[in-house]
Amino acid sequence: MSRRGRLTQSGSEQREAVAAEVMARVVDEGLGAPLPAGARVLVVDDLDGHLERDLAALGHRVVRWCRLTVGDRPGAPWPGAGPFDACCLRLSKVKAAFEMALHAAASVLPAGAPLWVYGANDEGIKSAGRVMAPVFGPPTTVDARRHCRVLEARRPAAASIRTRLAEWRSFVPPPLPGLRQWVTYPGVFAKGTLDIGTAELLAALPPLPGARVADFGAGSGVVAAAVLRDAPDADVHLIEADALALQAAHENVPGAKAHLSDAWAAVPPMRFDHIVSNPPFHRGKGEDFAVLRALLVGAPHRLRPGGALWMVTQRQVPVGPLLDEVLTAVEVVREDGRFRVWRALAPGD
Ligand SMILES: C[S@@+](CC[C@H](N)C(=O)[O-])C[C@H]1O[C@@H](n2cnc3c(N)ncnc32)[C@H](O)[C@@H]1O
Repeated sequence: MSRRGRLTQSGSEQREAVAAEVMARVVDEGLGAPLPAGARVLVVDDLDGHLERDLAALGHRVVRWCRLTVGDRPGAPWPGAGPFDACCLRLSKVKAAFEMALHAAASVLPAGAPLWVYGANDEGIKSAGRVMAPVFGPPTTVDARRHCRVLEARRPAAASIRTRLAEWRSFVPPPLPGLRQWVTYPGVFAKGTLDIGTAELLAALPPLPGARVADFGAGSGVVAAAVLRDAPDADVHLIEADALALQAAHENVPGAKAHLSDAWAAVPPMRFDHIVSNPPFHRGKGEDFAVLRALLVGAPHRLRPGGALWMVTQRQVPVGPLLDEVLTAVEVVREDGRFRVWRALAPGD
C-alpha cells in the first residue's frame, strides 16, 4: 500500500524523539555552555515532552512552553515568567513563528544565558542561524548527528527584542466580504488569509440558522466567522490546538465560544448539529493523519442524530473508507482538481 494509502501516523513522532535525544545529549555531555546543577530551563515546542523528561532526569528544573496543545497538556501563546538559566528551542517549520519564539526566549533569558536551537537538516536547521543572528548574534554548531544539529548562541546584553505578545499581533484584510479587519499572529494558518481549500468548503456550506456548529481546527476563525455572518443566531464553537491561532480566532469572532483542545479532548461533552472543518494533516514537517482520524472517530459521538460533518480535504487524502465506517450518507458535494468537500451524517435515532 502506498505511503498515502492509509490514515496512519507518519514518522513525525519518531522525528521529535530523535531531535530531543540529540539536544539532551548536548546538555548531558556539556558539549555546549555548561549548565549549573538544577538549572531552570525553558523548553520550547517539545511536542511530545521527550526533552522535558530527559532534562528533568538530569536534575534540571524544566518549564515548558509549547503553543500547540498536545493531549492533556494545554498550549500557551507566550512563555511564563522568567528569568531562566537557559532555553532549548525546537526549530519551527514556519519562519515567522520561529522568529517570534526567538524574541520570546530572549525576553525571559538574562544576558549571557545560552539558547540552543535544535532541529533536523531537512527542516532547515543549517540555515536557522540567519534568523537567530538579528536577535542573538550568529550561533555556533555544538553538535551534529543523526541528521540533526544543535546551534548555540548567548543572549546578548543589548538586544532589540519584542517582549510582549501584543507586539506580534498584526492585521490583514478581511478574508471574506462582510467581515471586519482581521487579526493574525506569526505561524497562524494561511497567515490569517482565506485558504483555497477553505474557500471550497465555504462555497458548499449552506447557511446554518439556529444550529450549534463546531469549527474544528479553527485557525484564525474564518469558518466560524462565515457561519455567524450568514446565521447570526448560530451557536458557534472554535476548536483549536494552537494557542496563538485560538487567540486570533477569539479576537476575530468574539461571538463564538473558544476551546483550546487537541481534537475533541478538552471540548466539554456536548453534541453539535454541524461540524465544519478544513482539518490539518501535517505535524511539523511530516504528513500526519492523527488529527483527521481523531476528528472522524469522534464525529459520531459529537454530532446529534442526523447531524452533519462538512469537511474539505485534498483529493489524495484517503479519507473515504473511514468516513464510510463512522458516518452514513457519505457524499462528495463539491470537487475540483485539488480538493473534495465531503458531507456525511450521523445516524438518526
Ligand atoms: C488547515 S488549518 C484550517 C484553519 C481554518 N479552519 C481555516 O480554514 O482557515 C487546520 C487547523 O487545525 C489546527 N490543529 C492542528 N492540530 C490540531 C489538533 N490536534 N486539534 C485541533 N486543531 C488542530 C491547526 O493549528 C490549524 O489552525
